[in-house]
Amino acid sequence: MSGTERFDRAAPTWDLEDRRVVLARGVAEAIAARVPLSSGLVTLDFGCGTGLVTLALAPKVGAITGADTSPGMLKTLAEKAGAAGTPVRLVALDPEGTGDLGGPYQLIVSSMTLHHIPDVPALFRRFTGQLRPGGRVALADLDQEDGSFHEDATGVHHLGFAREHIETWLKAAGFLDVQLETAIVSRKNGKDYPVFLATARVA
Ligand SMILES: C[S@@+](CC[C@H](N)C(=O)[O-])C[C@H]1O[C@@H](n2cnc3c(N)ncnc32)[C@H](O)[C@@H]1O
Repeated sequence: MSGTERFDRAAPTWDLEDRRVVLARGVAEAIAARVPLSSGLVTLDFGCGTGLVTLALAPKVGAITGADTSPGMLKTLAEKAGAAGTPVRLVALDPEGTGDLGGPYQLIVSSMTLHHIPDVPALFRRFTGQLRPGGRVALADLDQEDGSFHEDATGVHHLGFAREHIETWLKAAGFLDVQLETAIVSRKNGKDYPVFLATARVA
């Protein structure tokens, strides 16, 4: 089974796991605390999944887009957005995630998706090309872990990240004011998994 098929299968019941909802809420709160949000901010949620972060941020930003490689995840987000009366533009990416992200944006957020991306430095370079001048990123993912976070590691390319690597890759892609902090500590099977939030802006 491919990574995309795994997420397609998981999509209808994704939100039933409290841990995921709590993690996404913590990330959305950390983003709101770190990034000046406003009603005009054209925003992308990269690897949006069922939209846990997308829909939490939607009332605080302008037009919001969710991009994902999983049609099942996007379908679930479309249903939730429709039920909530919240407009969300959806971008369906090819299985490699290399398609057009539909920018330019003023803010790109992402939660728990970077570890599914083989070449993260290349993704950061892609983000700079999708941002308007002064645009920002706010990216959350796991700190380095021992491989115990995922029961099914299909499509997992990184066992979390060293924060200094994220900082180096963002700076190499041209980002300024790179800052990393702990967004939330996720608890799973009796173990703590810290989740960082990296923020940065382009010139
Ligand atoms: C762990 S889920 C996180 C979903 C959501 N951001 C959240 O916080 O609930 C990872 C998401 O990344 C998507 N994904 C995996 N590889 C991707 C890629 N190369 N490009 C874009 N999205 C990808 C998956 O389909 C899935 O929806």
